[in-house]
Amino acid sequence: MKLSARQAVDVLRAAGEPTRLRILALLEREELAVLELCRVLDQSQPRVSRHLKLLAEAGLVERFPDGAWVFYRLSGAGREHELIGEVLARINPEDPGLARDRRKLDDVQAERAAAAQAYFAENAAQWDRIRSLYVSDADVETQILGAAGGGRFQRLVDLGSGTGRMLTLLGPRADHAVGLDLSQQMLNIARRNTAEAGLTHVELRHGDIFDTRLPEAGADLVVVHQVLHYLGDPAAAVKEAARIVAPDGKLIIVDFAPHKHEFLREQHQHRRLGFSDEEIDRWLAEAGLSDVRRIALPPSNGDGLTVKIWAAHRAPTALRSAA
Ligand SMILES: C[S@@+](CC[C@H](N)C(=O)[O-])C[C@H]1O[C@@H](n2cnc3c(N)ncnc32)[C@H](O)[C@@H]1O
Repeated sequence: MKLSARQAVDVLRAAGEPTRLRILALLEREELAVLELCRVLDQSQPRVSRHLKLLAEAGLVERFPDGAWVFYRLSGAGREHELIGEVLARINPEDPGLARDRRKLDDVQAERAAAAQAYFAENAAQWDRIRSLYVSDADVETQILGAAGGGRFQRLVDLGSGTGRMLTLLGPRADHAVGLDLSQQMLNIARRNTAEAGLTHVELRHGDIFDTRLPEAGADLVVVHQVLHYLGDPAAAVKEAARIVAPDGKLIIVDFAPHKHEFLREQHQHRRLGFSDEEIDRWLAEAGLSDVRRIALPPSNGDGLTVKIWAAHRAPTALRSAA
């Protein structure tokens, strides 16, 4: 269905203002917190919020609160989205105003990445202890083993593998396993841990979850364990993880349910305070995965964090299912 002329006018009117067009161009890169947008645009929060409200009313952006922060992203689908995509694609990328915004956003992202890298470099040695502060590892791991299902895996990929806990847990059941991480310190510890576990078939690679360079549909099990909440663009990471999943394969995401522990942002570099089923389900569906199984592991103490497991499946190809 196409937009009516009236709808097209509404969309273009909402986008047809310099700051709002800049906001749309920035959100095209990734979801952003209001304060980050204010920093890049160099405008006050009330002003930016007014523009965001208008864009949201026109269906061009979505607002989602996350703890005490509020994030915005481009609305994922619909004719409005397509029309704006078309407008943005036709703007000269060298336009001085938009290029300046892009550079400022690069700075914001670089600062964020440097802080996260420094955190993981500093905490690599203690990571196994930090992780177990949240919930009992044993309970989570029992559920992950259940979600992975029985039998062997031809190829296991663990994205954001950290110290290699998922590789030592699932690696013994894989013919080949790859752990990928951005932190050399984490990779070094994972190399030691997997070697100590006698897992000689585990390969540890330096790489970025947003561009893994791993072959499409090459893994029958992909795991993303406690990584998404650090990322600027978790939806893009889910898309890349799903790309690697082979027909009849599985993607297992482990993260937190939405929570309010703001200190995790300041002290532990979390960007997102958990994820709702709705959000993860949408990303999985957009990435072509289905049959989502969800497991919630509530905390043992009252104000702890609920760990969530989402296990999704890629349908077998016609060829395989016919075989
Ligand atoms: C909280 S640790 C989790 C490690 C492991 N999955 C576990 O649960 O023990 C998050 C890991 O993600 C890695 N990471 C963060 N951003 C990444 C990115 N863009 N690409 C790959 N790894 C990333 C960090 O270096 C860190 O090792």
